Amino acid sequence: MSTSVITVQIKENSSHNLIIQQPISGLSLRGSIRVPGDKSISHRALMLGAIAQGETQIQGLLLGEDPRSTAQCFQAMGAEISELNTELVHVKGIGLGNLQEPSNVLDAGNSGTTLRLMLGLLASHSERFFCVTGDNSLRSRPMSRVVNPLQQMGAQIWGRKGSSLAPLAVQGQSLKPIHYHSPIASAQVKSCILLAGLTVEGKTTVTEPALSRDHSERMLRAFGANLVSDPETNSVTVTGPAYLVGQKVIVPGDISSAAFWLVAGSIVPDSELVIENVGINPTRTGVLEALTMMGADIQQENQREVAGEPVADLRVRSSRLHSCTIAGAIIPRLIDEIPILAVAAVFAQGTTIIRDAEELRVKESDRIAVMAQQLNQMGAQVRELPDGMEIIGGTPLTGTDVDSHTDHRIAMSLAIAALNASGTTTIHRAEAASVSYPEFNTTLQHICK
Ligand code: S3P
Repeated sequence: MSTSVITVQIKENSSHNLIIQQPISGLSLRGSIRVPGDKSISHRALMLGAIAQGETQIQGLLLGEDPRSTAQCFQAMGAEISELNTELVHVKGIGLGNLQEPSNVLDAGNSGTTLRLMLGLLASHSERFFCVTGDNSLRSRPMSRVVNPLQQMGAQIWGRKGSSLAPLAVQGQSLKPIHYHSPIASAQVKSCILLAGLTVEGKTTVTEPALSRDHSERMLRAFGANLVSDPETNSVTVTGPAYLVGQKVIVPGDISSAAFWLVAGSIVPDSELVIENVGINPTRTGVLEALTMMGADIQQENQREVAGEPVADLRVRSSRLHSCTIAGAIIPRLIDEIPILAVAAVFAQGTTIIRDAEELRVKESDRIAVMAQQLNQMGAQVRELPDGMEIIGGTPLTGTDVDSHTDHRIAMSLAIAALNASGTTTIHRAEAASVSYPEFNTTLQHICK
């Protein structure tokens, strides 16, 4: 029996550190767990609920800080959203084109999805003025990727550095349709333009270089929008003006959160975990394919469809991982899981190469630089590439002080690395996890045996 495998210490300066201490006897991970609701779907359910006609009911909403930011922004523009909970949230929509001008700045906090998707809606609200901002991280992330196509549609947006950085000011306009060829595979860009296109007369099309997550398309169709996808060209067209009607949305567990346990269950010896009710939308399952390529033992059980999204229970057992190459069209399908895949690679035999992932440099942190620095501090051999990492696996890790750089996925990835590091690891600013996974520490404690 092991004792105090993980303790959470809250320092006097109110910075939250997570301390993971190896037990004397071997650690194993066991149990059946659930992960919180999918972050991408939670944002979209709140947004579409707010702009639809009638009531939307959301079951299984993620109670992380990011969806809270979305809820607050849309409440400030007139949508009635009941207190957020996982059971049932009621959203009383105000109808497409009816968002009210807020009397204060809209704050998207740490959430790129909130800010970028919302911009598409704001830009098309004639005669209304909006200011949008976010936290330190979000104010340094590129917004030109959505501002440029919106400007091509006729939007009026101003901000720092040629309108590429928040805070941004938006003077709503009636927009015109475009066919936008996005240089990046980004669901935030695609969704922003589709949302802007909802009120526009005619066909608005987005073509992307590889398919990004399609939750917006699925949910917009369910709410009544006229959307046509062309898988051959990775294009999607919305014909406006749309009429959206409130729906019941059931949010599956987030595969991006499940990924931490899939890697933990694979690398910690003598482990077996079942993660129930995980969304397995094919635009999100790159992590399952990459881990399988690395020799992970993962089974999908009880596959079903829930409210238009495929769902399964995932069973993972420890296995000996080996290296692989992760590059090309799979990247957008596992982009958020690369930090935790880097941890898997550190414990895999051989040299793993991750390429075509330059987008990681403009996430909540520069995830290439930060993961390389932090894992190397623990003794790993990770080399930064301009668009990825080269990871020589198999070197044992030693616990030390590491830092999340206030990035939720870095905080949790380092916690999983610490499970296989000798001694004690202190993860500074680990509270960042609450952006997408407030119960992370509790679940970790629960499965450590
Ligand atoms: C998201 C899209 C992705 C992803 C982010 C959530 C979404 O971002 O990394 O966590 O919900 O649309 P990009 O669109 O920038 O790739």
